[in-house]
Amino acid sequence: MACLEEGVPFVNGSPQNTYVPGLKEMAENIPGAVIAGDDFKSGQTKMKSVLVDFLIGAGLKPTSIVSYNHLGNNDGKNLSAPQCFRSKEISKSDVVNDMVNSNALLYKKAEHPDHCVVIKYVPAVGDSKRAMDEYTSQIFMNGLNTIVMHNTCEDSLLAAPLIIDLVLLAELITRIKLAKDGEELRGMHPFGVILSYLTKAPLVPDGTPCINSLAKQRAMLENVLKACVGLPPDNNMLLEFK
Ligand SMILES: NC(=O)c1ccc[n+]([C@@H]2O[C@H](COP(=O)([O-])OP(=O)(O)OC[C@H]3O[C@@H](n4cnc5c(N)ncnc54)[C@H](O)[C@@H]3O)[C@@H](O)[C@H]2O)c1
Repeated sequence: MACLEEGVPFVNGSPQNTYVPGLKEMAENIPGAVIAGDDFKSGQTKMKSVLVDFLIGAGLKPTSIVSYNHLGNNDGKNLSAPQCFRSKEISKSDVVNDMVNSNALLYKKAEHPDHCVVIKYVPAVGDSKRAMDEYTSQIFMNGLNTIVMHNTCEDSLLAAPLIIDLVLLAELITRIKLAKDGEELRGMHPFGVILSYLTKAPLVPDGTPCINSLAKQRAMLENVLKACVGLPPDNNMLLEFK
């Protein structure tokens, strides 16, 4: 609320439910306000939003996604409290929803892969976060394919560059104006949807699709930035070479 009153963009990098309905309503009523979030998309979830998009897009059907983490920094300690873990579990799990829902050929209504997220606090590893993921998919002739990934990285080094990018991009949004033909210029919607590329659970206005696929999020960001300098969006047809 303090940021909204001061006209300062606010990005929620944690999974907590900071954006309660009253706060969202307040942002919608302040011209030029920018709020975005939730939860930085830094490592394991970033890979998930690439890999699941690729699998489903290729016609392979993920049937189980099991993600296990351990870490030993203060965030790991906090996440060992069930209430904190629950909000992280939701933001990490929801990241495949749009990709699953977008493919009615692979998934019947309400069907989704079994998705399990485990986070353990292991003080000895400190800031070095370990992530192990197992993706099992149904492939040709109902065969099963399992992809296993292991990732080790300093947790802080994953998050710090995202914070720098988010600060720059959130400030940039405050300066973008747009208008339909014949209408007056206005600022963008206060929910900074173009920052979705950097967040696990993008904040979007009611009734707006929530896009989690990393490639689509990146295309949205790039194309909006291109529009800002008068360039057309990328279409990847490369017709000039055909
Ligand atoms: N790779 C990453 O580091 C990463 C990725 C995604 C999301 N996150 C999220 O970002 C958040 C911060 O992660 P971190 O590793 O920096 O944690 P951290 O525990 O090292 O730092 C959290 C800081 O917040 C402060 N704090 C706690 N309650 C506060 C309050 N009510 N008001 C103001 N300050 C308060 C604490 O004093 C502490 O300095 C966590 O919610 C984490 O889940 C981190």
